[in-house]
Amino acid sequence: SGARAASRTSAASSAASTDSSLVFDPSSYTELTTSITDTTGTAHEVVYHFYKVASYVANPVDATYQSLNVSVPVKIDGSVVDASGAPILFANQVGGYMPSSVANATGIGAGGGMGPGGPGGPAPAADSAASRQQLALAAGYVVVEPGARGRSLVDSSGTYYGTAPAAIVDLKAAVRYVKFNKGRIPGNVDRIVSAGVSAGGALSSLLGASGDSPVYDSYLRELGAADASDAIFATGAWCPITDLEHADMAYEWNWGANLLSSGSVVDQTISKALSSAYGDYLASLRLTAKGFGTLTARNLDEYLVRTHLEPSATKYLAALSDADRATYLAANSFITWSGGRAAFSWADFLTHVGARKKDTPAFDAFDRSAPENNEFGTGTTADRHFTLYSLRHEEGASARLDSDIPAKLHLMNPMYHLVDRVNENRSKHWWIRLGTKDSDTALTVAGNLAARLKNLGDDVDTSYYWDAGHGADNDPGDFVTWIATVSG
Ligand code: DHB
Repeated sequence: SGARAASRTSAASSAASTDSSLVFDPSSYTELTTSITDTTGTAHEVVYHFYKVASYVANPVDATYQSLNVSVPVKIDGSVVDASGAPILFANQVGGYMPSSVANATGIGAGGGMGPGGPGGPAPAADSAASRQQLALAAGYVVVEPGARGRSLVDSSGTYYGTAPAAIVDLKAAVRYVKFNKGRIPGNVDRIVSAGVSAGGALSSLLGASGDSPVYDSYLRELGAADASDAIFATGAWCPITDLEHADMAYEWNWGANLLSSGSVVDQTISKALSSAYGDYLASLRLTAKGFGTLTARNLDEYLVRTHLEPSATKYLAALSDADRATYLAANSFITWSGGRAAFSWADFLTHVGARKKDTPAFDAFDRSAPENNEFGTGTTADRHFTLYSLRHEEGASARLDSDIPAKLHLMNPMYHLVDRVNENRSKHWWIRLGTKDSDTALTVAGNLAARLKNLGDDVDTSYYWDAGHGADNDPGDFVTWIATVSG
């Protein structure tokens, strides 16, 4: 349409700010020294410059969240390092679609992974493993840690100001800030590698898929985002909780037969209705995979088992001692171990995983109590339905989604930018990880994302961690190496 064409042509220029507050000051840092133990157990003394950027937008709504920190290594184990051309790890800290702030941080984010509240939870113990950001710093990379608004933020008038699409708009604005400061900010702004876990993994994959999409322009303009691109080079996503409007269907297709941890069975009428609707959605994606042709609700289980789950178990078992492997296999007789490879059926795998984490529907809860209902809140309405299925279950067959919901779903879904549109400014390098016992969402969500990216010809490194749960990162050192490899 004309409106779309107009917004496209204005994307690079009039949408954007060149406000002097957005100019990064290379001399404004604190020099810090820290010890970082790498994944081989070797401790490194790292001297780094720590910069606090009060806001990455000219007109912040809430700078507590719309701020970022930059860490630049200058000396590692006594040797001077020049990070001026190094890759930039852009590590968001979002968990649960909640607000995430780095405003009070006095140094690079510490280790410990997911605290009890997710990645944004309480600080981990001092002796815990190095964080992804610390590992990147010790490898000589620049690290940017952006904050972002999140769903629970509400102002004094009762208006929600961190619900969709606030978090992705903020992360894009932060990327624009970094790119706007090319030559001032240390690091190679053409080698930005995003990382995030769970909701943060969803946002990371969305950031990667939606680079320079004009559909965010009005939001970015309102914030006074910097006059620069928001396309990133590479994307890391761990257990991405994404494709939200299809996640209830996917969840029942995947976990429909699994019991809740209470031992109770979910409503099978609801579960089966959602599960059977998943087939139509999957068909609409037209995914193909080597050895399977087009993926359908009938071959998707086999695809997951052969392509992701058996290789996951194989890798896990191959790394065990003979004695430990024998013990594991004796306790898990559903696995056939032959010729150094694991084999099993989808049905046995589901039994092995055991309890599903969520009731049905998993994301658009009938009583609007799920985090995602709040993510799609607006104005003074804390939570809304975002699928016709749940809405009509509650309000009757003629109910209609609020008119802003479809566009907001697109703003939040990487698949929109990869399937409905094919965004040529997306990341072309992808690192996708998921635990095989993670029932926070369907195992198909990351799998479909990876399959689509592969179908588009992108460089996709996908691995499922055997028996790992939500938030797992079992190969952090490999990710650091991968950054160097793809950036090279
Ligand atoms: C997260 C986990 C969920 O189960 C969910 O629905 C949304 C977000 C998280 O850990 O970020």
